[in-house]
Amino acid sequence: MWREFFGPKARIVGIDLNPRAKQWEEDGFEIYIGSQSDPSFWKKFLSEVGPIDVFLDDGGHTYVQQIITSECVLDSISDGGMLVVEDTHTSYLEGFGAQTHSFVKYAKIWIDRINSRFCEFNTDQSGRKVWSMEIFDSIIAFKINKDSSELKSEEICSVEEAQYDGDFRAEDNVIVENKSEEITPIMQGAFSVEGLPNENNVVSEGDVMITKNQLVGLVENWLEQKPEAKDELLDLISKSCKT
Ligand SMILES: C[S@@+](CC[C@H](N)C(=O)[O-])C[C@H]1O[C@@H](n2cnc3c(N)ncnc32)[C@H](O)[C@@H]1O
Repeated sequence: MWREFFGPKARIVGIDLNPRAKQWEEDGFEIYIGSQSDPSFWKKFLSEVGPIDVFLDDGGHTYVQQIITSECVLDSISDGGMLVVEDTHTSYLEGFGAQTHSFVKYAKIWIDRINSRFCEFNTDQSGRKVWSMEIFDSIIAFKINKDSSELKSEEICSVEEAQYDGDFRAEDNVIVENKSEEITPIMQGAFSVEGLPNENNVVSEGDVMITKNQLVGLVENWLEQKPEAKDELLDLISKSCKT
């Protein structure tokens, strides 16, 4: 399929953890065997393969796999190229990792990074080459444009200051207050997504992600200080954990 799509001159390189994928070498593809969640694999792979025009992630689809892959390959994508991550709907499904750190939440960080280029924010974007993103059903694409990414935006005012009446933003507060009955349901609708399998995927302010070992360490410390709480704790864990 990709040979037909990119044409006979394209260099098409495949990666899989399954060694059986090597069979596709017979059809003229370069095949590397390794794990997409292994940073050392990427280092070696990129040093051998060189810059990439289009990178498509259709691997295991866990958040760690998708995020480690993106973090490791983004800087090796050529100017004008793109990283395309498939099956991003897994961000809403059980079984692909901690939803507090899903791929869609990682993509939102890129939206923040892109917006942080605004001239009044004092952020250092050097080395960040993602210029824009495109979002589709189950696909998120990151577009690389080195030159544009290094531009620093400047504010342009189209009216002379003396003629400028302000932007009337504050004046609007009265309208918003008077129209609250009409505005509130629209705002609520704007922030709700119907039909997702997990409606609980909003990160609340107190959410943190810790590893299993860190959790065990915390529990052990706590029990050392308060051994009498063991039964209460076990009861709490059994009620909160699904498995
Ligand atoms: C959804 S299939 C897609 C295969 C191929 N892209 C296609 O369209 O036919 C997912 C593939 O990812 C591979 N995979 C799973 N985990 C992986 C990992 N950690 N690193 C590399 N490949 C992995 C599987 O072996 C499987 O071949």
